[in-house]
Amino acid sequence: MRTTVGIIGGGPAGLLLARLLHHEGIDCVVLEARTREYVEQRQRAGMLEQGTVDALRACGAADRLSAEGLVHQGIELRFDRERHHIDFPVLTGGRTVTIYAQTEIVKDLVALQLADGPPLLFQAEALTIEKPESATPVVRFLHEGREQTVHCDWVVGCDGFHGIARDTFPAGTGRAYAHDHPYSWLGILADVAPSCDELIYARGAGGFALHSMRSAQVSRLYLQVPNGTDTADWPDDRIWDELAARFAIDADWTLNRGPITAKSVTPMRSYVHEPLRHGRLLLAGDAAHIVPPTGAKGLNLAVSDVRLLAHAFAELHRTGSGQLLDRYSESALARVWQATRFSYDMTAMLHTRPDADPFDDRLQLARLRRITASRHAAAELAANYTGLPLEP
Ligand code: APR
Ligand code: PHB
Repeated sequence: MRTTVGIIGGGPAGLLLARLLHHEGIDCVVLEARTREYVEQRQRAGMLEQGTVDALRACGAADRLSAEGLVHQGIELRFDRERHHIDFPVLTGGRTVTIYAQTEIVKDLVALQLADGPPLLFQAEALTIEKPESATPVVRFLHEGREQTVHCDWVVGCDGFHGIARDTFPAGTGRAYAHDHPYSWLGILADVAPSCDELIYARGAGGFALHSMRSAQVSRLYLQVPNGTDTADWPDDRIWDELAARFAIDADWTLNRGPITAKSVTPMRSYVHEPLRHGRLLLAGDAAHIVPPTGAKGLNLAVSDVRLLAHAFAELHRTGSGQLLDRYSESALARVWQATRFSYDMTAMLHTRPDADPFDDRLQLARLRRITASRHAAAELAANYTGLPLEP
């Protein structure tokens, strides 16, 4: 096989990049190690910045998103048994966010790709990326029981945090910056109507809790738990009682309870690999960086990376200039570090550290009170949450 852009990984980053390239008339091949069923069932986040929605719309992948996505005008911050609304359109000059699950985006992109797109191979596991420094890198992969190769002009590693692309950078050509946070999230899906129209970020007595949703009938909720937590220690009643305690306010409000259909524990890590390019190998999405989910930036960053890349490949295709590709690592990393900072600050402001003392407690409250007391501070949160502008 031969192609212009070999894409490793069929998560949101790889699938969207393939659609964007297809629209520019640039051919590509997507190799995905897992089955279609597996990638379409994987539960992930679901908060989309306006720029993410626009990118999906631009490549014709937003029909269902437009019909079923829930447009949110803000979020609620809860602390000290009080609720505070952060109004995005008022604070940002009209911007909103949309709730639509990542698994649904993946289903929509897979369907389009299989209908009219360039090849998308499932159960095609990339084994090695050879000669990334040369003009024709080669990806060796396992598919239908035998080893095969695809010769490419460029290779993009969209293969997530545990992929092979990042490890292909020779020793000394890159470095990682990482921080492990001292807590995890226990996430549940429940067949019950959301208890509020908006997302609620709560700093409760026992730690952080988040109220989110997937539809008018399905709630998505998260609890801060210690690292190493086993879901077996969290029967349904214990989860609901703890959520109710952390969301408790003095005003009249109740948390709707219902059957829990999924439970999982996710550790919280901040990680950035620099640079995002080695020769003709480029990294995008979780392959290059991860953030704790408190700011809902993971998927949005993956999308902004591939928008920058698609733009750069389009310039190369149309004019022969590789300038934007040369700038890709720097442009994408500038944005990645802003999202890393925002996610870190949101996480630190709302979670209770296992070693927290009364001083930390007061400092967290002062940070939260500043946001609710100052329009300027609230506008800064709203600008970051709804997404900073994309600058190639
Ligand atoms: N060969 C082929 N495919 C691979 C390989 C390999 N060697 N290694 C990993 N993959 C595939 C995985 O099976 C997965 O489907 O790459 C895909 C990577 O997808 P994601 O992990 O979803 O990463 P990305 O597309 O960057 O999306 C980022 O996912 O983790 C969330 O919060 C994150 O929402 C963000 C989004
Ligand atoms: C989600 O809906 O899964 C979600 C929303 C916002 C976050 C994290 C996760 O910050």
